[in-house]
Amino acid sequence: MRPLDFKDGVLRLIDQTRLPTELVYVRCSTYKEVASSITDMIVRGAPAIGVTAAYGIAIGASAINAGTKEAFLKELEDICSVIRSTRPTAVNLFWAVDRMYNKALDNRDSDPDTIKELLVSEAVKMDHEDVEINKALGSHGSKLISDGFTILTHCNAGALATCDYGTALGVIRAARDSGKNINVYADETRPYLQGARLTAWELLQDGIPVTLICDNMAGHFMKSGAIDCVIVGADRIATNGDTANKIGTYSVAVLARENNIPFYVAAPISTIDFSIETGDSIPIEERKAAEVTHIKGIQLAPDGIKVANPAFDVTPNRYITAIITEKGVLYPPYKVNIDGLK
Ligand code: MRU
Repeated sequence: MRPLDFKDGVLRLIDQTRLPTELVYVRCSTYKEVASSITDMIVRGAPAIGVTAAYGIAIGASAINAGTKEAFLKELEDICSVIRSTRPTAVNLFWAVDRMYNKALDNRDSDPDTIKELLVSEAVKMDHEDVEINKALGSHGSKLISDGFTILTHCNAGALATCDYGTALGVIRAARDSGKNINVYADETRPYLQGARLTAWELLQDGIPVTLICDNMAGHFMKSGAIDCVIVGADRIATNGDTANKIGTYSVAVLARENNIPFYVAAPISTIDFSIETGDSIPIEERKAAEVTHIKGIQLAPDGIKVANPAFDVTPNRYITAIITEKGVLYPPYKVNIDGLK
């Protein structure tokens, strides 16, 4: 299942705000439409945001009508700035924009039409690479999963959050595909309900047994012995292993430690921010109050209530049993082992 599809200069996205009750698509034929789709979470999940950003830049570049090479690069830079400003936390977005912009810079001596073609090819390449990376990551991670395991996951780090297959759900898929019986517990993931709306839907589509629970039930099921391990995705990993992921992930990690349950992060290397040493430097997106006070337009809280809505939290490295990447499984000390990936 792919949340995005690029054809004839148009990016088609599954509108993830409408799942699970409606499977509808949004068509983006300008970079501004692509940017809004990221901000409005029509597409979401770190790797999917990165590749969508790359397609947005390719679409934007194709429409540039500049007289000189310098003017072309200046307009491209402006497009990159707009795409960069869509969401702050997932580093895959910035990684993808840098890769696209550098592709243009490396070919600055070519004529703009050639650069436009190169940018489209680069975005398509990143899309294909993402699927391969998730499969490799899934295969490494599946070795940590035994037959009969019940796995708790938080948010949606599945096919919908990537170009296909998923990261945390990629590990689960790979374990299932290697013949193991796997059960999943999906946290609903308030306030945006990625677990209830997306993970539950995606796993049902794929025939993987899934039980939906409210976020505040995770501790109960861990304590009662129902959960064998936790696997989550990531939006940005510092070089010491501190990991930003969907709000609530930190609480799950602390509960897992209390209950002696392994807590795994599954993420591509593009989610590692090699420029930061700890999670303290990770910018945390604050989203609008209405996501907390309302669900599908229904008001849950009193008018005028003060609301805090950080979209992500940072799990300190000491709670993370291992980080599963396409290059293999990393264990502590993360500082040394992440450095070794460079
Ligand atoms: O706000 P979202 O839905 O974009 O947040 C998504 C997550 O936190 C995912 O767990 C993360 O991006 C990893 S996706 C493979």
